[in-house]
Amino acid sequence: MMHVSLRQLRTFEAVARLKSFSRAAEEMHVTQPTVSKQIRLLHEEVGLPLLEQIGKKVFLTEAGKHLYATCADWLETWGRFEQTVADLKGVKQGRLRIAAVTTTKYFMPRTLGPFCAQYPGIDIALEVVNRDRLLERLMRNQDDLYIMGVPPEGLEIESEPFLENPLVVLAPISHPMAQRKRIRFAELADEPFIVRERGSGTRLTIERVFKEHGLPLKVRMELGSNEAIKQAVAGGLGLALLSKSTLSLESSPQEIAILNVAGFPIVRYWYVVRPHGKQLSVVANTFLEFLRSHLQLLSPRRDSKTDGPRTI
Ligand code: PGA
Repeated sequence: MMHVSLRQLRTFEAVARLKSFSRAAEEMHVTQPTVSKQIRLLHEEVGLPLLEQIGKKVFLTEAGKHLYATCADWLETWGRFEQTVADLKGVKQGRLRIAAVTTTKYFMPRTLGPFCAQYPGIDIALEVVNRDRLLERLMRNQDDLYIMGVPPEGLEIESEPFLENPLVVLAPISHPMAQRKRIRFAELADEPFIVRERGSGTRLTIERVFKEHGLPLKVRMELGSNEAIKQAVAGGLGLALLSKSTLSLESSPQEIAILNVAGFPIVRYWYVVRPHGKQLSVVANTFLEFLRSHLQLLSPRRDSKTDGPRTI
């Protein structure tokens, strides 16, 4: 009979999933030596090597692969038990695990503020990752709820829109198009664009929009962060198509303009998603209700029509 702790399994699952001791330590908010110690104890108990480190890369051994598959089931079962206990103890307490795409960082933490104030007994773990990593988490059923802009097709999910997510075209304020009142979409095909990394929902959307218009997208540069893209736009490297949410914390308002492109802003939505048939905990249901009832509060103000370039 092996004596393995839940903590060791959680640590192993994180290292195996992230393929890195340091990233696992970061995710679990512990030091790297703590992660190494948990893995060593687990190795000793199992009596076979589970992980191999070659250079900086971590690989799973045969035994490690079996344990990784088993871990997901154990952790989910245990999570359900913890939630049942929390539900039995009283309605509004326990842990809420939300995974949200990168671009939601402009409003999700703010949304959580009033929710936490209203339900101080609920402890929230918010995981912010890009769309592809979020879908991996969804397929592994790692969180209670998922927030994203482009729900996947072909997966058994339930999704509910809860907030507008307009998409805008950004240019440096000095760009000749920034002065124009009406720009045809086709004109954008001549402009270089700064785009998000593959796997991002924003990237997927810009590619779809150009495809729908039957026009090529000229990629000048690919960057993994909305903030970096705005800096590149301000620096004159190209245009960008981003969610308007990314502008809400703009610190240097005079450097970027929203272009008046026909058909823009494209109105899309932020969705709260869960696997179809997932038994939501009381805490997750409470949050869902909170999102629904705060729609009005959260809705961004609509733009009034402007004549010149709209600066942010
Ligand atoms: P992203 O997702 O942050 O991965 O680009 C945004 C979206 O889905 O609209």
